[in-house]
Amino acid sequence: MLDTAKEMDQVREYYGKIFKSNRDLKSSACCANGSLPPYQREIINLIDDEILQKFYGCGSPIPMAIEGAVVLDLGCGTGRDAFMSSRLVGPAGRVIGIDMTDEQLDVARRHIDRQMIRFGFLQPNVDFRKGYIEDLAGAGIDDESVDVVISNCVINLSPDKRSVFSEIFRVLKPGGELFFSDVFAGRRVPEDVRGDAQLYAECLGGAMYKEDFRRMLAEGGIADYRVVSASRITLEDPALSARAGMVDFYSMTIRAFKLRNLEDICEDYGHIAVYKGTISESPHDFVLDDHHRFIAGKPMLVCGNTAAMLEDTRYARHFQVTGDRTTHYGPFDCSPASDRISDDRGAGGACC
Ligand SMILES: C[S@@+](CC[C@H](N)C(=O)[O-])C[C@H]1O[C@@H](n2cnc3c(N)ncnc32)[C@H](O)[C@@H]1O
Repeated sequence: MLDTAKEMDQVREYYGKIFKSNRDLKSSACCANGSLPPYQREIINLIDDEILQKFYGCGSPIPMAIEGAVVLDLGCGTGRDAFMSSRLVGPAGRVIGIDMTDEQLDVARRHIDRQMIRFGFLQPNVDFRKGYIEDLAGAGIDDESVDVVISNCVINLSPDKRSVFSEIFRVLKPGGELFFSDVFAGRRVPEDVRGDAQLYAECLGGAMYKEDFRRMLAEGGIADYRVVSASRITLEDPALSARAGMVDFYSMTIRAFKLRNLEDICEDYGHIAVYKGTISESPHDFVLDDHHRFIAGKPMLVCGNTAAMLEDTRYARHFQVTGDRTTHYGPFDCSPASDRISDDRGAGGACC
């Protein structure tokens, strides 16, 4: 039987008191997947060292084309991703970071004024709120008020992931995007591994089995999601590895959209999508996921789900999508095939 309050207290104890910096972590689960695109590296150079030393993420879950957007960072910690997003959304956008650990929030809040000066902003466009990712209403986040939800190595720590996803898709605007990096497991994590406080705090014990994640999204009406990147986590510490047993862990970056018209497999309606090359961070191509790279100006045949992700979201102005769903040509042959976690690259969504 799980004691959710105990699990949360343990996590707070680790991130508030035990871990002083990311050097204290014993696994590469947090801080995996390190390389950042050049435009994000430029922003990292503007972020204070204290924030960077207390960065415990496992990826770089900040999507492109967020200028002017409202971004919500779940489990923002000391604020690395929230501050990077603050710079990218600019003065017309807004970023809200939510975390349950006072010590993490104290650091993030202490840096707001200095970061705004470094970004050249006259007013703060970011605020940090104490709250729980399972109860975003409690943190004052209204229905359909957010364009993009990001999160970096946090959802695995929640004892109630169903509530987290339900809250995410409540607060997202229609067509809004969830873009997050997290730790996943190739099987359901056994109770003894999950009950190990250190493995749990190191973002391993609470890792989601990728098929349960897919089912949770589907229950919430989201029939397709996309893997942007995936890599296997190696446990260098022999004691930790022994306690984790046979479970295989993956760091994955995922995107999912609040779109209710997605189907559970890819279907072919003859849609064609052309990237206009108008996203300033990436004028030559746009990577939707690990098997969709749109070259600017080049027409690509896409399934109905991909077409919806491009034309019913904030990406619409960057794509010309032609076609509708009046004629169905059968299932869409998306490759690579669905179960990519078995070859260490990650899991696919319903599509591809
Ligand atoms: C692995 S750290 C990641 C922090 C941050 N995203 C980063 O990349 O540095 C996990 C963070 O999530 C917070 N957290 C864990 N469970 C939470 C929950 N249920 N509600 C709110 N915050 C939570 C912890 O306090 C901690 O700051």
